[in-house]
Amino acid sequence: MLWTLLFGLVAALIRTAIAADAIYRDPDTGLVFTSNFRLYKADGRGITFRVAIPDDAQQNSAYDAVVQMVVPNDVGWAGLAWGGTMTNNPLLVCWRGTSNNVVLSSRWATGHAFPQVYSGAQYTLFKTGTKSNSTHWQFTALCKGCTSWTASGSTRYLSPKGGNRLAFAYSPTKPSNPNSPSSSFSVHEVHDYWQHDFAQAANANFASTVSKLVV
Ligand code: HEM
Ligand SMILES: *[C@@H]1O[C@H](CO)[C@@H](O)[C@H](O)[C@H]1NC(C)=O
Repeated sequence: MLWTLLFGLVAALIRTAIAADAIYRDPDTGLVFTSNFRLYKADGRGITFRVAIPDDAQQNSAYDAVVQMVVPNDVGWAGLAWGGTMTNNPLLVCWRGTSNNVVLSSRWATGHAFPQVYSGAQYTLFKTGTKSNSTHWQFTALCKGCTSWTASGSTRYLSPKGGNRLAFAYSPTKPSNPNSPSSSFSVHEVHDYWQHDFAQAANANFASTVSKLVV
């Protein structure tokens, strides 16, 4: 009886945790993000993934997105898969260069093998919202080409009005040539998926806010 009760309670808590993306009002950029924290170590270490989009983004069309990630210093590289799987969708791979700068690399994998540089998505790093301290680094960047892509002749669009499945990958090992966005890197240790709410990531005045951040 008690167990049934406890089980029900735990299940309800888990459901709530899955359903509710945190909304993050970023004091630095002024943008509103939906935010998901994903563990890569059982001891509680994880990466925070945040997305902000324009409030006039339409279903079945491409739109710009701003991505913000907060990454513990022990991460060698981290990847975000916009289509929620390793293959056939835009991948953002990020790491730190040798002068603590953030390096963003746009990639595409056609199989479960080293992903090639992908020119169909472009990232512009913001100065505002990109920083580090003794435990974490974070960046904020505009992406053009992350919410729509074509693979095997069919075009996919991320929904601006609901949840989209995203995926991440984590490696403790730094890329071999960390100052180059086209560097090689070795396979991940961990990958995982989640449903990311885009509806509540809608920003009024997205274009004008972004235009002040890309300078
Ligand atoms: C050197 C680069 C990489 C190699 C060699 C590699 C290799 C692999 C392999 C062999 C698997 C299959 C594992 C299994 O079936 O259990 C896999 C799965 C996966 N990889 Fe990678 N990977 C690389 C980079 C990346 C990057 C940059 C991402 C970006 C997020 C990524 C995301 C994933 C995901 C989400 C899966 C789960 C299966 C799927 O969704 O396709 N990988 N990878
Ligand atoms: C360190 O920086 C990260 C990323 O900006 C931030 O989330 C965290 O709160 C900071 N920690 C401290 C102790 O200031």
